[in-house]
Amino acid sequence: MTAPLLAAHPVVPVVVIDDADQAVPLGQALLAGGIAVMEVTLRTAAGLEGIRRLRALEGMTVGAGSVLTVEQVNEVVDAGATFVVSPGISPDVVRRAQALGVPALPGISSSTDLMTAVSLGLKEVKFFPAGLLGGPAMIKALSAPFGGITFMPSGGVGLANLREYLALPCVPAVSGSWMVEKSLVNGERWDEVSALAAEAVAAARAALV
Ligand code: 3PG
Repeated sequence: MTAPLLAAHPVVPVVVIDDADQAVPLGQALLAGGIAVMEVTLRTAAGLEGIRRLRALEGMTVGAGSVLTVEQVNEVVDAGATFVVSPGISPDVVRRAQALGVPALPGISSSTDLMTAVSLGLKEVKFFPAGLLGGPAMIKALSAPFGGITFMPSGGVGLANLREYLALPCVPAVSGSWMVEKSLVNGERWDEVSALAAEAVAAARAALV
């Protein structure tokens, strides 16, 4: 994921689908709400097929989430993922994504992780699980020695606190599942997904001004 991509997509939904048939309608609902990026996780068996189907959805940038292994990098890129998100940092996973020409966005939770990210040439990382790690104050402290690194906090981020994260110059985007919760997806409550997406984007854009 490149800096312009994060800047263009200040809210990145973390998507967990139980049925691959949900992928495209969910993507359409997000697009209707103004969100043109999805991180489809491999936490369910339907995730990989969902990524494959989303290839057909024009205007949607699709990445894979919860990518833990080199084999999964191969699979998700083959399925059409254009960025790879992981909960932690694995040099093997990052290097494989880089070799395939796909940006990697690994999770970091410490300055040691950030040292690893720097050694891999990364400029962008996920900060996960953001709320439990200390939220914006922790990002502010961690970022001080790592000029040029930007952070996408995820985990416990929502409408109530996204402004505090986006107020930090090193945070161009936030990520989370609040607009794509399982009950909304399994209930096919697409209008509500669109409304929550629109609300999130409006709040994020206001915070970034
Ligand atoms: C992630 O993988 O980034 C998190 O599971 C999203 O966290 P949330 O469900 O608290 O938004």
